[in-house]
Amino acid sequence: MHTELNLHDTFVYPGFPYPETHPDRLAALAILHGLTPTPVEQCRVLEIACNEGANLIPMAYAIPTSEFVGFDLAGLRIERGQERIRELGIRNVRLFQGDLLEVGSELGQFDYIVVHGLYAWVPEPVREGMMALCGELLAPNGIVFVSYNALPGGHLRRMLREMMLFHVKDIEEPRERVSASLAFLRFLLESRPEGDAYRLVIQKQLEEMEKRSPESIFHDWLTEAFHPVLFTEFAEHARKHGLQYLSEATLPPMNDPWFRSEVRSALAGAAGDDILKQEQMLDFMRVRMFRRTLLCRAERVLRRDFPAEHLRRLLFASPVTSAPEETPGTKVFTLPTGVRMESNHAGAIALLEELEAKWPRSVSLEDIEPRLAETGLLLDEEGVTLLMRLVVAKFVEIHAWKAPVAGEVSTFPRASACARQEARTRSFATTLLHGTLRLDDPVVVRLLLLLDGTRDRRSLLDAMKGEFPAMQEEGVKSGIESSLKHLLGIGMLEA
Ligand SMILES: C[S@@+](CC[C@H](N)C(=O)[O-])C[C@H]1O[C@@H](n2cnc3c(N)ncnc32)[C@H](O)[C@@H]1O
Repeated sequence: MHTELNLHDTFVYPGFPYPETHPDRLAALAILHGLTPTPVEQCRVLEIACNEGANLIPMAYAIPTSEFVGFDLAGLRIERGQERIRELGIRNVRLFQGDLLEVGSELGQFDYIVVHGLYAWVPEPVREGMMALCGELLAPNGIVFVSYNALPGGHLRRMLREMMLFHVKDIEEPRERVSASLAFLRFLLESRPEGDAYRLVIQKQLEEMEKRSPESIFHDWLTEAFHPVLFTEFAEHARKHGLQYLSEATLPPMNDPWFRSEVRSALAGAAGDDILKQEQMLDFMRVRMFRRTLLCRAERVLRRDFPAEHLRRLLFASPVTSAPEETPGTKVFTLPTGVRMESNHAGAIALLEELEAKWPRSVSLEDIEPRLAETGLLLDEEGVTLLMRLVVAKFVEIHAWKAPVAGEVSTFPRASACARQEARTRSFATTLLHGTLRLDDPVVVRLLLLLDGTRDRRSLLDAMKGEFPAMQEEGVKSGIESSLKHLLGIGMLEA
């Protein structure tokens, strides 16, 4: 093992679970595009540059029948992840210290390969090695996820970065480099009048940075290498290694220019049906700064019109809560983010109500088709368009795997052991749906730690009363009930 420490060992990039890298997400998007990815519950997943495994370990925990491998140059981070795996007692995940330029086919082939936060921040030979490794290790029906800084937004980032680096060139200590460069950006901002375009560019990025930890600002903004690329350059790089563009890991939001008819016709005029060129032009309109791109083997045939037969192979879920509106036949659906949608479409209402009743579980269309048919909603062209609109609006999620989540709070509720482990050492815990729960409510944290499947409501109440002696029994009781409901709703309780 290399013992040489790098800056990722000494000024630690915060590990995090990224839902958009989960094999379930990758498989669902592949199915939507007509591919036949390996089932999530029987797959091999590789994460290149996995840091301490904060993304990989919760995935492996939630999918015990699949195999997970991760490696990173930073040896101390890997050791920390290995300790975590040992303590958790799971056997389907292996982390090792390694350089991507030195590993290869001895690892075998993988159905899903994830490379998050590497491509744009490493020197050219490493970028090249990464893409070559993906080309070499990807199984025939495999999917690769790569995130990277994109252009033209990367130009704005580079402009700020160069000024920050200029300002801190004589400062060695990472934390000081970060605070001095932020202070410098604030100074630049204040030197410009309100409403000034240059001020707005600085302000927007500074606001983003100020939400992040010093470690992530350091590794994302002040690294030696910073190489944002045009989407088409990235796609060309992938093509050289036998890979092609599948889609983004996140479908474009409703306000994306792609959904404006005048933009579509302008794109068709300028780029014809060249999807890469279209995407590139859209990035210019979006001032795209970051991409999370999925790739598959170049020989796979893709469809981008999402026919009903693709949707039939998917699972669906919805985290909405519904409430009746005053107008008969109308309902309001609210997402956990607070976004609301009012609908008087009987088919849409039936679909969302069915999914709401099953949440956090996902269901196939077959399961709910009889109810949809009663309202006249068929999976014809109109039905598919409606469903895809709800997917794009994030009122309906697509899945390819049934997460092992509880559908109701059982007598002896059990939270994910992986999340309980995180609750002992971190400020967030990962749900079985690969989302995160911020652990800022002490009642939720204590309850989460107690949910090991051995306690019923009575013993939970006794234990919680001991933890919070100043609280009234009724308050503790209702706190337990509402927390259990919340944990159930975010997919934290095991089936
Ligand atoms: C910005 S961090 C991202 C970590 C993680 N993927 C994430 O997104 O949270 C970049 C990681 O790449 C690793 N790395 C850099 N060069 C590498 C190489 N040649 N081989 C393997 N890992 C490398 C670093 O050690 C570091 O952990």
